[in-house]
Amino acid sequence: MTSAPSPERTLRVAVLGCGNVGAALVGILQSRADALAVQSGAHLDIAGIAVHDLDAPRPDHVPRGLLTTDAAALVADPTVDIVVELIGGLDPAGPLVRTALDAGRPVVTANKALLASPDGVALRTLARERGVDLLYEAAVAGAIPLVRALRESLTGERIRRVMGIVNGTTNFILTKMGEDGADYPSVLAEAQALGLAERDPTADVEGFDAAAKAAILAGVAFGYDVAGDDVFCEGITALGSSDAAVAARFGYVLKLLAIVERSGDDQLSVRVHPAMVPVSHPLAGVRDAFNAVFIEGEAAGELMLYGQGAGGLPTASAVTGDLIDATRNLLAGTTAPTPDRRPGRLRPLGEVRSAFTVSLEVDDSPGVLAQVAAVFGNHRISIRTMEQEETGEGAQLVFLTHQAREADMQGTLRELGGLRPVRRVGSVVRIVGEDRRA
Ligand SMILES: NC(=O)c1ccc[n+]([C@@H]2O[C@H](COP(=O)([O-])OP(=O)(O)OC[C@H]3O[C@@H](n4cnc5c(N)ncnc54)[C@H](OP(=O)(O)O)[C@@H]3O)[C@@H](O)[C@H]2O)c1
Repeated sequence: MTSAPSPERTLRVAVLGCGNVGAALVGILQSRADALAVQSGAHLDIAGIAVHDLDAPRPDHVPRGLLTTDAAALVADPTVDIVVELIGGLDPAGPLVRTALDAGRPVVTANKALLASPDGVALRTLARERGVDLLYEAAVAGAIPLVRALRESLTGERIRRVMGIVNGTTNFILTKMGEDGADYPSVLAEAQALGLAERDPTADVEGFDAAAKAAILAGVAFGYDVAGDDVFCEGITALGSSDAAVAARFGYVLKLLAIVERSGDDQLSVRVHPAMVPVSHPLAGVRDAFNAVFIEGEAAGELMLYGQGAGGLPTASAVTGDLIDATRNLLAGTTAPTPDRRPGRLRPLGEVRSAFTVSLEVDDSPGVLAQVAAVFGNHRISIRTMEQEETGEGAQLVFLTHQAREADMQGTLRELGGLRPVRRVGSVVRIVGEDRRA
């Protein structure tokens, strides 16, 4: 058996950033150089590696001689063919990507923050105008081949909904709260000790990271330009172990979901919030820091993609796949398919329908239940089931509702908050995934 001939072409790759992902990518480019050359059609030479601090510690495999702090000069180097942006954030990543695209160089990036920013729309437009690739498989759900699956394999599919567990930190926290009965602060501390949560976990636990990914998914799956800031976003910080216990008692598992859903003919609902997911739903079994994205299409039915959503090496694997695509496309004088985008017409959250669980702390006295139930009725919300537990000082009521408009639920909560025997309106969690089509 003869092996495939080594290609004659060599392309020069600028790597911007040498942190978790950048250093792992450099390792893959070195250790798999021959295989990547055969797969992509060209030897991939690292032209330079831009970093912030030349003296920062790096893994041994990173060639010191290629490091530079002048990312702008590296991107402007006329001998560079492809740019890989792994710095993160908006600045200087955004201007660097713009310069590369403007010069007709393909860009591979893992930068969800940039892509979900208003600049992300402009950069995609620029790439299309210049006829070059801007590829970002690693920006959503790390190693999971999601963007390519949606853009290519499912391109003919009319997608109804994409729902994902796209943040490993929060999934780890919610898994521990559900399985060990632990409370949020102690599990967050454990996640930080394990390196699964940042010292400042805001972007993860408030849902902002998932919102950026939801915005990107809205573009890839539905062709709508949506900015991360326009995504309704509710994090997990208000949840406690009692919510996980409520979920378990009623046959659900708590998950933080990014949901992108066709709503009517021309509207999209894009939102991130904690959700009660039925234990029978495939997303309910996605534990710890794993990610998964559940896709519902009209013809294809249900699909789920599962894997590692973060980590240097898994993310670098997705970047490598994009780099091979960009190389092949450059050699062939073509680009990856980029369907036209429209500005997103977002359905107002108040119009979205969900079932809910609502927890209330109330006085333990006659007539309270009837008063509370009447408030739900006033707002056209029908109660599916209810559980009452004495707490010593009063009673805890947990209601499960049928599907209702979000605006009606908000009205209910406002009125309940003003009801004299209601001591506290506790958690209100949307129930998601009960409407699967067989
Ligand atoms: N880590 C993950 O699991 C993961 C998963 C999915 C997507 N991503 C995305 O991948 C990208 C990289 O993430 P990461 O975790 O590798 O980040 P990171 O570890 O913080 O690395 C960032 C790198 O950028 C360099 N850098 C910072 N400012 C710079 C500047 N002005 N000029 C040149 N270089 C500069 C840093 O240099 P120094 O090393 O000198 O400080 C560092 O090497 C981000 O967009 C992130 O959202 C990451």
